Amino acid sequence: MSDYTLRPNAPLAALSTFRVTARAQLLADVRSVDGLADLFAHPDYARLPALVLGEGSNLLLAGDVPGLLVSLSLPGIDVLKDDGNSALIRVAAGERWDDLVRWSVARGLHGFENMALIPGSVGASPIQNIGAYGAEVAEFIRTVEALDRQTLDIVRLPNSACCFGYRDSIFKQQPERWVIVAVEFELDRQRPLRLDYAGVRETLSSMGVDAPRPLHVAEAVSRLRAAKLPNPILIGNAGSFFKNPTVDRSIWEPLTHSFPSMPVFAHASDSAKLSAGWLIEQCGWKGRRDGDAGVSDMHALVLVNHGNASGLQILELARRVAASVKERFGVEIEPEPRIVGATW
Ligand code: FAD
Ligand code: EPU
Repeated sequence: MSDYTLRPNAPLAALSTFRVTARAQLLADVRSVDGLADLFAHPDYARLPALVLGEGSNLLLAGDVPGLLVSLSLPGIDVLKDDGNSALIRVAAGERWDDLVRWSVARGLHGFENMALIPGSVGASPIQNIGAYGAEVAEFIRTVEALDRQTLDIVRLPNSACCFGYRDSIFKQQPERWVIVAVEFELDRQRPLRLDYAGVRETLSSMGVDAPRPLHVAEAVSRLRAAKLPNPILIGNAGSFFKNPTVDRSIWEPLTHSFPSMPVFAHASDSAKLSAGWLIEQCGWKGRRDGDAGVSDMHALVLVNHGNASGLQILELARRVAASVKERFGVEIEPEPRIVGATW
């Protein structure tokens, strides 16, 4: 028996955190790396378009999914090396990211604590190089193991080959090519904690912690996130819907004269990152809704599904939000989630 099962015309409303209605032509539940290779080698499926599904927390289904939607049930955290100072671990793609964060902080390993409570799977974590509260996952990735659909080989890509950037990687740029099956991370026990992101130190002191360890930082970050971001269990959303835009000096400098309170974060020598949430809030969108598609009243960067919005309605709202930011500030903002069934 092969290590995958296929379900035709599968309903997807429960499989993405936006909870919009859509169907997959064939939903493949894959239970081993060999099963994945068998699936893609099968003459009936080899030429079909394929999309990998993690936990659906960065996905907007604006239409049905043609071809294969591949869900990886690949569990396992293996310690490859641990000399007491640092550890090298291999984590299979199907593990939940936040479970891995809890696993690592419980062992006194430093690094993942700032990224506590980010939803999703470990296999998706390199796709957009997840990040939060002053850390990005690429800092800890040693190697990504992925199936290359062009050759059907499992390849080991060192960090330097993954082209990681802000919410970017080679996997995001070539989505049809790569299926990540495992990630190797290196974490150490001496790395200084990063407490500089707004609110982290204050939350630690409100917790009565003055000599924080990674698990305290993970708890502080979790509290901050719970207060700031809508919970997808309660209201459908995919976290930040837009990336923070990086713009040249010729754009941000005049804006700071017109809008002195606008947050500007240094990026490279002449460019800066602006806060998409601030730009959107200034355009009056925070808390607004159009039918069941809305902009969160907790965080202007988060689009929400109040109940029965379709993926296309959410996309249409996103386009209007982006157009108004462009009109008012002359700044283009781009979506962060993968959009299926429509183009931006
Ligand atoms: P999915 O949404 O299922 O997939 C996302 C993309 O990755 C798709 O293109 C999919 O095809 C691809 N993919 C998934 N798994 C694989 C694989 N194994 N191989 C190849 N391609 C794959 N992100 C942040 O960076 N920082 C945050 O702070 C943050 N906060 C969030 C808060 C909320 C409330 C929500 C809902 C989302 C947030 N996100 C954040 C976005 C999201 O959690 C991450 O992008 C996460 O990594 C998505 O994981 P997933 O398993 O749900 O991927
Ligand atoms: N802001 C507003 N109005 C809002 C929300 C934010 O004006 O409604 C402004 C404030 O000035 C605030 C600033 O935006 O100080 C930054 O807000 P926040 O700290 O929430 O961070 P963000 O830039 O909006 C990014 C990531 C988040 C990540 C947080 C914390 C992106 C696109 N988003 O949000 O990631 O959790 O920083 O590090 O980079 C995600 O990618 O899905 C995501 C949630």
